[in-house]
Amino acid sequence: MPARIRNFNLRKDLKTVLQFQYETYERNFPGFQVDRGFLEDFARQLRAAADERSEQLWVLEVDGQVSGLVWATLITSMVEEVVGYIKNVYVAPELRGQGYGRMLLRIAEDWFRSQGAPKSVLDASVCNEEALAFYEQVGYRAARVRMEKPLG
Ligand SMILES: CC(C)(COP(=O)(O)OP(=O)(O)OC[C@H]1O[C@@H](n2cnc3c(N)ncnc32)[C@H](O)[C@@H]1OP(=O)(O)O)[C@@H](O)C(=O)NCCC(=O)NCCS
Repeated sequence: MPARIRNFNLRKDLKTVLQFQYETYERNFPGFQVDRGFLEDFARQLRAAADERSEQLWVLEVDGQVSGLVWATLITSMVEEVVGYIKNVYVAPELRGQGYGRMLLRIAEDWFRSQGAPKSVLDASVCNEEALAFYEQVGYRAARVRMEKPLG
């Protein structure tokens, strides 16, 4: 199955990448429903990212079909001037477990390194066990934890 990772092309890839967000956001934020307004806002962010040197997106293409995404940005932390931040990573369900997610993160991390970032960070939801297992497996560890308490 010929697979390649290439730069995101706003015109060609926008629709497919928006479709990925249903699973990503509904899985990470239980109860949240992706709707038109959310997708319009997401599309605006993608358009802005395309013109921004501190943001890079790549897509996974398998058999000519866009089947994955990684969105990488450079941010500033409390103690570091520049840190890599993974904003979004996705692999189509039928292609999971074949190393594509790892490949996408590696490309983002190589770019972070080339930009002088000493580390790569991301946010994950505790309810998304699949993603947590994936992140742990590729070397990420919990550094800060957001805690919550229902106020019944
Ligand atoms: C998270 C996600 C990107 C992983 O992609 P993937 O292509 O399946 O991951 P890989 O095949 O590259 O896996 C890399 C490693 O993580 C492990 N891993 C991946 N998914 C796993 C799972 N569900 N449970 C346990 N380990 C898992 C793999 O076994 C592999 O380890 P190995 O190389 O030592 O064998 C994919 O499941 C996905 O798109 N999920 C929906 C979107 C999402 O939740 N994104 C993250 C939040 S923004």
